[in-house]
Amino acid sequence: MAAVSSPGWPDRPFRRRQKKAATAAGIESIWLPGVRCVVRSLSPEILDHPAVPDDVLDRSHRDLTRTHRWLGHSRLLLSALRRHPYPLGRVMDIGCGRGGLLLEVRKHLSVDVIGVDLRLPPPGAATVPMVCADAVRQPLPECDVAMAVCLVHHLSEAELILLIRNVGRSARRFIVLDLVRHRVPLMLFRGFVAPFVCGVNAADGMQSIRRSYTGPEMHAIVCEAVRGTGATFRHRVAPFWVNQLVDIYW
Ligand SMILES: C[S@@+](CC[C@H](N)C(=O)[O-])C[C@H]1O[C@@H](n2cnc3c(N)ncnc32)[C@H](O)[C@@H]1O
Repeated sequence: MAAVSSPGWPDRPFRRRQKKAATAAGIESIWLPGVRCVVRSLSPEILDHPAVPDDVLDRSHRDLTRTHRWLGHSRLLLSALRRHPYPLGRVMDIGCGRGGLLLEVRKHLSVDVIGVDLRLPPPGAATVPMVCADAVRQPLPECDVAMAVCLVHHLSEAELILLIRNVGRSARRFIVLDLVRHRVPLMLFRGFVAPFVCGVNAADGMQSIRRSYTGPEMHAIVCEAVRGTGATFRHRVAPFWVNQLVDIYW
């Protein structure tokens, strides 16, 4: 297995000790002279609630797709897909929401697309083909490349390992784009993104950052997931920890 990673900053033992102490005390974020670290929060997001009505979900997913566009996430994904070494037939989006990102992929790359999500739009409302499945535990459709955007922070470490192994059974490549748990993106989101998105996405966005993995955590989880499979992966944390991208090839 070959892994290339740029985790963004050294995870110093001192910070780890502080973080451990804070977790043990049930504190989410601690402030000490020169050090502030965010402990992973597992509280659910608003949109995780099964009682959220379909129209609220529609509005939030539309807003999220727009946010991905102006934060550069769509461009990042499209350029990763364009670098695929073979002609692309089918792209699968895991945790596709309402399929907004797949519409962009289909429009720009003219490929076949399929979405997977735990909750599908009402019958007749889907804009792309979608399958209802738990991507961690259930069989997935065959495709050339699978991607998961802002999904993996919803999963525990064990579930993320299972997800990666499960995807490896139906795809030769898996692109994971997610947030990074760090105080800098939290501040940037609060100041520059939250005021411009709907209230649900502003609240869920903050919680998503608190719930996401740090660069070193993500790196260790992916190493464990692909151990013994012969897979290779690249992991890159963006400047200011605004996102992280993992690109796994089997
Ligand atoms: C924050 S939304 C992201 C939607 C879309 N990927 C985007 O970035 O616009 C996370 C989505 O993942 C879905 N999801 C969460 N856990 C899942 C699982 N185990 N299998 C399939 N979908 C899942 C949720 O239903 C939700 O639609």
